[in-house]
Amino acid sequence: MCGIFAYLNYLTPKSRQEVLDLLVTGLKRLEYRGYDSTGVAIDSPDNKNIVMVKRTGKVKVLEEAIQEHFSGGEYSEPVLTHIGIAHTRWATHGVPCERNSHPHRSDEGNGFVVVHNGIITNYNDVKTFLSKRGYEFESDTDTEVFAKLVHHLWKTHPTYSFRELVEQAILQVEGAFAIAVKSKHFPGECVASRRSSPLLVGIKTKTRLATDHIPILYGKADDKKLNPDQDADSGKQQVLPRSESTSEFMPLEEKEVEYFFASDASAVIEHTNRVIYLEDDDVAAVRDGTLSIHRLKKSLDDPHAREITTLKMEIQQIMKGNYDYFMQKEIFEQPDSVVNTMRGRVRFDGNAIVLGGIKDYIPEIKRCRRLMLIGCGTSYHSAVATRQLLEELTELPVMVELASDFLDRNTPIFRDDVCFFISQSGETADTLMALRYCKQRGALIVGITNTVGSSICRESHCGVHINAGPEIGVASTKAYTSQFISLVMFALVMSEDRLSLQQRRLEILQALSKLADQIRAVLKLDSKVQELAKDLYQHKSLLIMGRGYNFATCLEGALKVKELTYMHSEGIMAGELKHGPLALVDDSMPVLMIVLRDPVYVKCMNALQQVTSRKGCPIIICEEGDEETQAFSSRHLEIPRTVDCLQGILTVIPMQLLSYHIAVLRGCDVDCPRNLAKSVTVE
Ligand code: M6R
Repeated sequence: MCGIFAYLNYLTPKSRQEVLDLLVTGLKRLEYRGYDSTGVAIDSPDNKNIVMVKRTGKVKVLEEAIQEHFSGGEYSEPVLTHIGIAHTRWATHGVPCERNSHPHRSDEGNGFVVVHNGIITNYNDVKTFLSKRGYEFESDTDTEVFAKLVHHLWKTHPTYSFRELVEQAILQVEGAFAIAVKSKHFPGECVASRRSSPLLVGIKTKTRLATDHIPILYGKADDKKLNPDQDADSGKQQVLPRSESTSEFMPLEEKEVEYFFASDASAVIEHTNRVIYLEDDDVAAVRDGTLSIHRLKKSLDDPHAREITTLKMEIQQIMKGNYDYFMQKEIFEQPDSVVNTMRGRVRFDGNAIVLGGIKDYIPEIKRCRRLMLIGCGTSYHSAVATRQLLEELTELPVMVELASDFLDRNTPIFRDDVCFFISQSGETADTLMALRYCKQRGALIVGITNTVGSSICRESHCGVHINAGPEIGVASTKAYTSQFISLVMFALVMSEDRLSLQQRRLEILQALSKLADQIRAVLKLDSKVQELAKDLYQHKSLLIMGRGYNFATCLEGALKVKELTYMHSEGIMAGELKHGPLALVDDSMPVLMIVLRDPVYVKCMNALQQVTSRKGCPIIICEEGDEETQAFSSRHLEIPRTVDCLQGILTVIPMQLLSYHIAVLRGCDVDCPRNLAKSVTVE
């Protein structure tokens, strides 16, 4: 939900045009997070003002506007030190339009400008407070109050530093945010902070950094709130307690340095692989090229410093290469991504599996009362897909929950529960809130994420990185198959010492060893799926039916069709067909059924015949050479045979390809479907 990017060069000459190029490239990398409007702010050529350009639409539109606006020679003059901030938006408060685009400003003179990701929930209170003091608002956003609040504090506390002003403003706001602030009153400085929304700082220096840690500086401020009801004209200014940072350590001082503030690592990897992931309520400030990290309050378990992490990501991983879309590339990466998920964990020769991130917790997990798998969207579907196997191999009750619904119900959680939080981004607000809810109640928290350093990763007791590599397309594809495999590996670990389950484990391990080749075989169906898409793309609806291990594919396939093609689609449990959905079936309703030779084959065939006897002409996904089943279909896609519990990996790929091709034929934006964003950091 929104991407923020800021760039600061200190004693590293860069022209404003170069800075703008950097900002635009940063935004392009973050565009998957939101793409309804964009904006940038840089210093004016005389350094006396801040200039902003904002546009409705995607980064491309902003890029064109920037070329028009900043073509003058003065923009190509190198500047020794400069700070630019940028934003790509997914609207929450106020429709997508230039007025609501970020950066938002404090006043007509652009004294303070801010970019924000998240929601300031008490913005109405802050707005009332500021309105009483003469501030007029020009957007419908929650963000604007922040810029104006900093301005108000600057006027009332003229001796405060930039960082102190932002700190005081942060104390007044509630909700979720990652922010970066720039000010014409504090040139060359940048202050950024986060609470529940992701933010990292990338550091680029000419020489090796002298340290791997940035010390945390603690303030002495209490969190006294401004009183919105206090009479603005009473003459009595509210004086906030000042934070005086103290520390025995020194902050990071570099002679020539560039800093990048970004919502995620993909925006900085082409510049540097050295990053600091900020924690909630950290305030990162750069002044005179020096980065310092502050916290207002010290808690007992706080570390003394934030670690500078080396990113493992490669730049090629975030490029499209020869593919037309990221989603297409990510679908075709699956033979490799599934292997990467298993790499170093599964030993096919010795039939052994080690999950380093949870191995010390396995005895505790084995003693638990139940397993809970919690996620949203595609991540939730990976839990549905593996639940049956987990029940079989762990012999524990397994509950599968949508994070939002789980929170709505205030679900009872106990100390001996083990709760899995599945999330590609590791930042999904509903999943993160559910994690905190379970953690507070004493449950063991296991994170299954694709994003190293993400909030879910950091807040879990233990976990599994699915190692699928960066997933940029908003529609999740390779993360799903890697989440699926991670949970299968966990089930295998849990059953390691169960004699009665060894034959089953062996069968699954052998199937895992063939999976990459089988995925390659399924991907060869691409042109056949494209032909199918040509028949389907003008329809209004698509029903996808299956049961048992393939029900999750129906849900996931329908989600892909909906989000990418804007067609109606429904994943239907074949056993439920006769209880209602059958009424939808006639000779014109497109139906796709998954019918494989597994324990529910006969039941699936019953459903298939219920469809054909209502003049339905189903398209079938079946096993290679299964002519008997194919006889009931209008068209069919054949997939290789594998063990029942892994079928879902092979059956989901034709669904990914189908939704992709229908989207292309319908002229939809494959990587950035309307109204959506990849990382949903609002509840
Ligand atoms: O990052 P997460 O896995 O937590 O995201 C959860 C959902 O928002 C996500 O899977 C969404 O459903 C995908 N866009 C579906 O393709």
